[in-house]
Amino acid sequence: MESTANIRRAGEKDYDEIRELTFRAFDNEGEPDLVEAIRESEYYIPELSLVAVNKGRVEGHILFSMIRIITEEGEIPVLTLAPMSVDPGLQKTGIGSRLVETGLRECRRLGHKAVIVIGHPEFYAKFGFQPARGFGLEVPFDVPGEAFMAIELETGALRNAAGMVEFSPPFDGLV
Ligand SMILES: CC(C)(COP(=O)(O)OP(=O)(O)OC[C@H]1O[C@@H](n2cnc3c(N)ncnc32)[C@H](O)[C@@H]1OP(=O)(O)O)[C@@H](O)C(=O)NCCC(=O)NCCS
Repeated sequence: MESTANIRRAGEKDYDEIRELTFRAFDNEGEPDLVEAIRESEYYIPELSLVAVNKGRVEGHILFSMIRIITEEGEIPVLTLAPMSVDPGLQKTGIGSRLVETGLRECRRLGHKAVIVIGHPEFYAKFGFQPARGFGLEVPFDVPGEAFMAIELETGALRNAAGMVEFSPPFDGLV
């Protein structure tokens, strides 16, 4: 059955539930630690941490934060989508899709130009993410080609962006 969860910005009162949800979705402490490290860093954007809430319970969470692309001409600030989590018992009911759609709309509204993601290609392609290497992007670690994706939020935003994606310090040791 399609979820009727409401999507809204995450607030302090959601933090414990977000930690618990992220742990259950990934089955490790690395991802909940990552959420908190991003939140405490200068790369965090409060408007781009969203939760899906149903009957007062947090059922899903998505987070976009600042990273950069190092090109020959200089640096381009972009966003990364990571991590996102949906309650394992409620996956495949549309919560993840609504979080991505609402999140990308918010990213655009705030004037961000592009988003990089590393994840399930069958899932992210539905929202317009394309293979990042097609834009001339690289990452300094091993990722299967199809899992490394990017989306332009403004047409042509990644046209002259060939370069190395540099994740922020909170991702150290994870990517
Ligand atoms: C990936 C995730 C966020 C998707 O959320 P969701 O609410 O289940 O997504 P939706 O219901 O909107 O869409 C379902 C689609 O997601 C994709 N999907 C979900 N889980 C997937 C997985 N483990 N591997 C590959 N694709 C997956 C499928 O394309 C599925 O389509 P289908 O129903 O036609 O099979 C969720 O499964 C999750 O939290 N997984 C564990 C943590 C994780 O992997 N996070 C993302 C890291 S990139």
